[in-house]
Amino acid sequence: MFLGQIRNNLLFTQKDQIKRMPTSNLNRHLGKISSRMTQIQPSGLRELFDLEHKIAKSSSNTILSFGLGNLNIPTLSEIIEEMKIVLDNPVSHRYSSNAGILALREALSERYFSKYQLEYTTEQILVTGGSLEALFDVFIALLDPGDEVLIQDPTFNPYYSNQITIAGGRVKPIKLNEKFQLDPESIIESLTPKTKAILLNFPSNPTGSVMTRSQIKDVVETAADNKIVVISDEAYEDIVYDKHKHTCAAEIDYENVIVISSFSKTFSMTGFRLGYVLGIQELIKPISLVHQQNTACANTPSQMAAIKALHLHPSIRDPMMLELNKRRKETIKVFTSIEGISLQNDPLGAFYIFPNVSDTGMNGDEFSKFLLEKCQVVVVPGSGFGNTTKDFVRVSYGFLNPEEIQEAGSRIKSLI
Ligand SMILES: Cc1ncc(COP(=O)(O)O)c(C=O)c1O
Repeated sequence: MFLGQIRNNLLFTQKDQIKRMPTSNLNRHLGKISSRMTQIQPSGLRELFDLEHKIAKSSSNTILSFGLGNLNIPTLSEIIEEMKIVLDNPVSHRYSSNAGILALREALSERYFSKYQLEYTTEQILVTGGSLEALFDVFIALLDPGDEVLIQDPTFNPYYSNQITIAGGRVKPIKLNEKFQLDPESIIESLTPKTKAILLNFPSNPTGSVMTRSQIKDVVETAADNKIVVISDEAYEDIVYDKHKHTCAAEIDYENVIVISSFSKTFSMTGFRLGYVLGIQELIKPISLVHQQNTACANTPSQMAAIKALHLHPSIRDPMMLELNKRRKETIKVFTSIEGISLQNDPLGAFYIFPNVSDTGMNGDEFSKFLLEKCQVVVVPGSGFGNTTKDFVRVSYGFLNPEEIQEAGSRIKSLI
């Protein structure tokens, strides 16, 4: 209000002195932007979300969105209460140590010991602004120009590819098997003298696939045999269903394993922007230097509240997991009962399923557009997640409750 008043007064009194920024022609400025950035792909979702916005305005139907990689399950009230308390503490208004508040790194060390029997010292842990920052720091610290990073196809793209490209590396996608899992043979086939690292993501976004302990062991041992670094993005490590038990890649004996994880999904804290990296000190040190130059430290109030999150008994998450499992079952039931749609994996992790829609006569792009236009249901085309996935769509059950999922199912069935 106050700022608005200043603006109005200025417009009234000093019209001649106001400097308007030019609305520029991008081409005129291309020479000033690094050539790296010209290779960066914006998210393919923008077009779909623009269309969603347009349809939301004109349709009487509410939009039911399986599009978001976000959870609408509230952050635990204990964490919110703690956040309110820490904001009254002036310590939370300041930078923390670069690596993260010691008590938080101690709590993380404790967590990895009790969950995976892995003993990390606090020097082997770095707290970051979400796992996205962690990934970025790792790529910048590890990659020389032209170094290749093997990534799963499909995977969490365009983020992974863009980050690797910005860091000067090259992306080498490896086609996953029909269950969207990684076979050691396909890693070996993709190796070149320039291969520096392999990036794993299980449980997987976008497929919901998980890997067993012996599969993770085979992959990490293949990386070890070929002396490449394993970067394991385990952002969904705690979102697993039925009897599946997540294996942390660092449980397998190989020193060049960098584990990345996050508070975002485990505690439904995406907005708090808090992730972390674990690894041997020789690797964590250069990654910390990048982090220091990048952000100095992760958000201090979030770090303080996160200590509380780690000290809560794990069962505190049971209601969230019960709800997610209900949504998962309902989503699988709805989509697999539609003619022309099939699921080729058992999605035992994260909050996504990745069905093949080609037997409807449409590819993933066409199918997504069709659902949005004809029944105001949003799913995301698979084509954005890899080179082999144009017939698929990603369906997220992070944002719809079981009743809404059923409603979406009835709308789709009445069409197809
Ligand atoms: C596989 C994967 N890694 C990392 C992230 C980023 O998470 P964060 O909120 O910790 O940055 C996401 C977010 O959706 C994700 O799906």
